[in-house]
Amino acid sequence: MLEITPVNNDFVAEIAGIDLCAPLTPATADGLRGALEKYAVLVIPGQPLDEARQLELAQIFGPLETSVGASIYNAKRPRRLDHAQLSDISNLDESGQLLEAGDIRRLINLSNQLWHTDSSFKKTPASASLLSAQEVTPVGGATEFADMRSAWDALDPALQSRIGELIAVHDYFYSRSLTGFDLAGIPSEWREIQPPVQQVLVRTHSHSNRRSLYLASHIRSIVGMSDDDSKDLLDHLMRLATQPQHVYRHRWRTGDLVIWDNRSTMHRGTTFDEKYRRSMRRATVQDIGPTVPH
Ligand code: OGA
Ligand code: MN
Repeated sequence: MLEITPVNNDFVAEIAGIDLCAPLTPATADGLRGALEKYAVLVIPGQPLDEARQLELAQIFGPLETSVGASIYNAKRPRRLDHAQLSDISNLDESGQLLEAGDIRRLINLSNQLWHTDSSFKKTPASASLLSAQEVTPVGGATEFADMRSAWDALDPALQSRIGELIAVHDYFYSRSLTGFDLAGIPSEWREIQPPVQQVLVRTHSHSNRRSLYLASHIRSIVGMSDDDSKDLLDHLMRLATQPQHVYRHRWRTGDLVIWDNRSTMHRGTTFDEKYRRSMRRATVQDIGPTVPH
């Protein structure tokens, strides 16, 4: 039996009473889907999933994405993980050793520490993400989640009506540039794989009908606004949306599985000492389509 305990109003719930390493029953799958519609983040401790189980579980939420890392940086290099649908969220190389200080993958991983929502830089962005922790750091390395529904609800109505119909330009390489990635150095074939895309700035959840801010550090600009005005507005919204009353901080234990809804949350990693190994993998579910017609 699925035991669902709210941790934080209707934002985060902890789930017990299930073994996700065993084959899923239809009732458990329904229970998990229902819980993710009601809450936006599910914490499920004690689930040492292998890659195949994690992929199978993720598919109850919809079709899976291919990892950007697998299609870009590691397209011609060996990967640590066997499946291209799993994103490698670790500081380890393909043989499981800590990445060298100068390894480009360290720089790329740093952008996970900016507030974002997964794959908003793809035409069809991600609905759910499922992150499974294999090795965790003794201190640091928590992941923070921000509730973009309560962030929207708390906005001044005048601001809500000013931004309700805006369209934002999300660019994978823009968020990389914020953490020191040299944009001039990126090969044009990477650009072709991941060109900038448009997304609505405010979404409406299909089940609850609640509205939420669709913000991310991937946003380069707002359509029809100057770069300066875009930046001012986005900084302002980002500050409001990530105030403590909207944020939950998850401290990882080995075997934790955390599932979140990217349509109604943002998240970010937090710093930790890179002498520690941190090893996680993420399965990412595709949403039903783009948020704006292309
Ligand atoms: C992710 C992510 C942050 C972290 O897996 O999508 O952004 O703390 N992770 O590892
Ligand atoms: Mn992420």
